[in-house]
Amino acid sequence: MFSRVTALPTLLWIILLICPVAKTFKPLLSTVGGSLTHRDITQRAIFRKTAQVCQAMAVAQGQEFNLPNDGTLTAHSLQQACSSGASSLLSSLAFQTAVTKTYLSNAAVDVVLALSAPHHFDDESFEAGRDVVVQGAAAVKAAVKQGSFISARISLGSACHTLQDFYSHSNWVEMGNTAPFPDLIRPDMQMDNLAGPTTATCRSCTGGNCSDNILPDILQQKKLTSGYFSLFSSAKPAGKCSHGGTFDKTNEQDPVGGINKDDASESHGHLHLKAAEVAINATMELLEDIRLTIGDKDFLWLVGMSQSAALCFVIDTTGSMSDDIAEAKRVSFAIIDLKRGTQEEPSEYILVPFNDPGVGPLIRTTDADVFKQEINELTANGGGDIPEMCLSGLLLALTAAPPSSDIFVFTDAPAKDAVLKSILTALIESTKSKVTFMLTDVTRSARRRRTVPRAMSVEDAQLYWDLAQSSGGQAIEVTKSSLPDATVVIMDSSTPALVTLLQAVRTSAGSESFSFLLDESVFNVTVYITGTSPVFTLYSPTGESQGHEMSDGPLGTIQKVGNLQRIQVNTNNRIGLWGITINTTETFLVKVTGQSSINFLFNIVEAFGGAHGDFSLKQSRPSIGKSFTMLMTVTGGDSLRVTEVLLEPVSGAAAVNGTVEAIGGGDFLVRFSEPPEGDFTIHVKGESGGTARSSPSQFQRQASTQLRASRVTVTASANSTLEPGETITVPFTVQTNTTAGTYTIQARNDREFSMSSPSTLTLEAGGQAEGTVTLTAPSSSPSGTDVTLTIEAQAPGSTDSNYVVMSFAVVTRVTDVTRPVCQVTITANCPEDCTQATWQLSANMTDGNGTGISTVTLQQGNGTLNTTTTSGVGITSASYSASCCSKVVELVMVDGVGNSGVCSAAISVVSPATTPQATTSSAGLCLTMCLWLWPIVMLSLHHLWA
Ligand SMILES: *[C@@H]1O[C@H](CO)[C@@H](O)[C@H](O)[C@H]1NC(C)=O
Ligand SMILES: *[C@@H]1O[C@H](CO)[C@@H](O)[C@H](O)[C@H]1NC(C)=O
Ligand SMILES: *[C@@H]1O[C@H](CO)[C@@H](O)[C@H](O)[C@H]1NC(C)=O
Ligand SMILES: *[C@@H]1O[C@H](CO)[C@@H](O)[C@H](O)[C@H]1NC(C)=O
Ligand SMILES: *[C@@H]1O[C@H](CO)[C@@H](O)[C@H](O)[C@H]1NC(C)=O
Repeated sequence: MFSRVTALPTLLWIILLICPVAKTFKPLLSTVGGSLTHRDITQRAIFRKTAQVCQAMAVAQGQEFNLPNDGTLTAHSLQQACSSGASSLLSSLAFQTAVTKTYLSNAAVDVVLALSAPHHFDDESFEAGRDVVVQGAAAVKAAVKQGSFISARISLGSACHTLQDFYSHSNWVEMGNTAPFPDLIRPDMQMDNLAGPTTATCRSCTGGNCSDNILPDILQQKKLTSGYFSLFSSAKPAGKCSHGGTFDKTNEQDPVGGINKDDASESHGHLHLKAAEVAINATMELLEDIRLTIGDKDFLWLVGMSQSAALCFVIDTTGSMSDDIAEAKRVSFAIIDLKRGTQEEPSEYILVPFNDPGVGPLIRTTDADVFKQEINELTANGGGDIPEMCLSGLLLALTAAPPSSDIFVFTDAPAKDAVLKSILTALIESTKSKVTFMLTDVTRSARRRRTVPRAMSVEDAQLYWDLAQSSGGQAIEVTKSSLPDATVVIMDSSTPALVTLLQAVRTSAGSESFSFLLDESVFNVTVYITGTSPVFTLYSPTGESQGHEMSDGPLGTIQKVGNLQRIQVNTNNRIGLWGITINTTETFLVKVTGQSSINFLFNIVEAFGGAHGDFSLKQSRPSIGKSFTMLMTVTGGDSLRVTEVLLEPVSGAAAVNGTVEAIGGGDFLVRFSEPPEGDFTIHVKGESGGTARSSPSQFQRQASTQLRASRVTVTASANSTLEPGETITVPFTVQTNTTAGTYTIQARNDREFSMSSPSTLTLEAGGQAEGTVTLTAPSSSPSGTDVTLTIEAQAPGSTDSNYVVMSFAVVTRVTDVTRPVCQVTITANCPEDCTQATWQLSANMTDGNGTGISTVTLQQGNGTLNTTTTSGVGITSASYSASCCSKVVELVMVDGVGNSGVCSAAISVVSPATTPQATTSSAGLCLTMCLWLWPIVMLSLHHLWA
């Protein structure tokens, strides 16, 4: 029995889960050739808008913007165009990850809110639908202001869903419109062209042909209507249009037939592509509205177009750590000083100190100087008893860092909060971040442990090993004095476009050979072997070899420090299959990384529509014994293909081979008949290029994150936003296909919001049980705060566990819909030689009865801007002065809740014969404009990008 959302009737969910509920642009997949899905529409809109933003930024900086104008933008071509001047090694992984997150959140609206009419503009719910879009956009802006980019992407995806559905479900396109309906992102506009509640809008289709079922006078008078939809009842107001399709019961009632354009096979499928095209442009308008408020730099962050990684440190600050803190300081300063001002400068800095019992505060900044100052202020003190709150510190860092970050933990003590291990593993699996531990003074002798009270035993260190291993990081054990030699791994991780070529862990003694393929895109290969005993030999594709004892040999240089061996491989002209044989008596981890543009990203997705159905993101472990699916994207080129995906168990058992299906847009669905038992790694083989005459070149990559499947299933579903002070109820279900007994439930959030949850649930063998978590956002939470909730269920005896990870945005409902406006006066007397004179603009700015103008920024123009603030009202006037050579100015005014308005003006140069005398009046030569935000106008003003 299904009960994914117990708030809804179970019967309903059975129907939702079993039937393909065809009532929207298809979320991710379309079975009808040439049709566009929400995935396509969202991705294309983000790509096009990002290109415009990059172009505007390049132009403003006097740089060239080269984008191959071949009509098809890809993440890779955009990344290249937007990073002009950077090295040739670029990764578009972060960009693609953000875009994918956004369209997966878009698709989720069809699962969580499938039956909410406003979320799909069904049932003529235009005002309520617009409210969904407008509140969604406000949530994005608020989240960006708080630096919560992950929740911003979630809110963006769902707002886009509703906005896009308008074009499929209403008669906007049938009315002959080719441009978007601007009122949908303008809550201050009165929508006065709506068909009234009793106005008939449709007639029955004739013989299954619905192309002409909207009443002619509705179209002539341009009255807006949309289709009614219900899974259960055929009732609809008299004369109204239906959504249409097999699952819409209202479709069977007079007037029979529907008007949706969800794909080319639907009632109005002949207009599908038109609707989808307008939906793309409408999505771009929404993005433009968001961009004006948050600015270009944050816009590029929002879409993940930031080349460099974050630098994340979690540091123990108890008594004996002063050497370690000094080293963390040294290495971070070295990275900052080396990379500052370059494209490789860390995109942000995260620092979490932990002590006993204190953890945090979390410091998160994009300003290297702030980070330097914070790390400078760390001092070692306190921490009487031995174990410290290490994992709590790591928990904060994991949820704050961008996905796929490298996090470094410095400690010399065991963790007091080991109970967090399984939650951390869940977060590692869902964020795909890597955790590397720099452990100093781990003792392996029981005698020393008694004499050195803080020392970590091998068992204590094992916890760190396990977390490092599941994330693809390392647990490096060194003496305090040799720590400076080990921190080279931190320098290594701050290089761009890092990829994993091989990663394996072995826990038993023996000798084993591993191989890794170097393709021509890979540079700077480094091999890391962590473990106390391994000896190795490295083999090149041409048969040369180098043993571990030869620190400087034909194949590379070997550096040993503590339990780490690092080999910088000399890869000149050595494309092909490399080998490494490792002989050990103890656990070891081998990892081979390189720099390459070619990488991949994966998400586990879950079918929600039966055989031909669609997929949504699954933020939990796959189930043992059941099939599962991954959505995979290869980044780094325009003709890259996934050819094979293998899940390799760490135990050495046989790999599970997936079935790969290309679904367009550079995405692939990979289906597995069932996951392997125990921990496993993901290996991807692919090819690039290839023509009739030349064969394609092969590449191989591995995910650094290790996964595992479970016999326990945890599912939960809830709306993704709540208001400050509100309590959200999250119903969840735990299922097992074996063990009966008492399951331990752990629910955690990363914000210390108050929560309630059952501590145990009792399950029958093969049964299920339901529970509820409540989460309360304090009323003092700033709008835009994000919170990550993890619900974990552990089988009796802790033999198995599963979890679900959910993100929520705390958002204050926006009631101020007034946009700032301005009135400008221009004083200009510009001679033909524009270098000789300046012109001035003064603007009176008002926000009506809104929240007041909080920022004014110069969007275009290179003069100087001054603003005057009146207390209690915000900014009320601005003066601008520029050289006569800088003829256009554009000021963006943003009010307290993120409504934006544009104040723009342009001057023209006078011909010498008619140069008037200097005048202080607002000159007639000047063209002044006072615009409310009209993205379309803005677009034509200065984004003439094709
Ligand atoms: C969408 O906008 C582009 C310009 O950004 C324009 O060329 C295209 O015609 C528009 N599409 C539709 C359907 O209006
Ligand atoms: C390899 O790394 C070095 C520094 O570690 C860097 O200078 C060089 O550019 C890298 N090689 C390539 C091809 O990027
Ligand atoms: C691995 O090392 C052990 C001990 O050093 C040695 O006896 C054994 O022969 C080695 N195995 C291989 C396959 O090299
Ligand atoms: C996986 O499946 C593909 C396609 O069926 C096949 O070509 C490949 O050899 C298989 N790989 C392994 C390791 O079995
Ligand atoms: C989610 O929000 C919608 C409206 O925004 C509401 O109708 C629905 O009941 C909410 N669902 C849950 C599970 O809270």
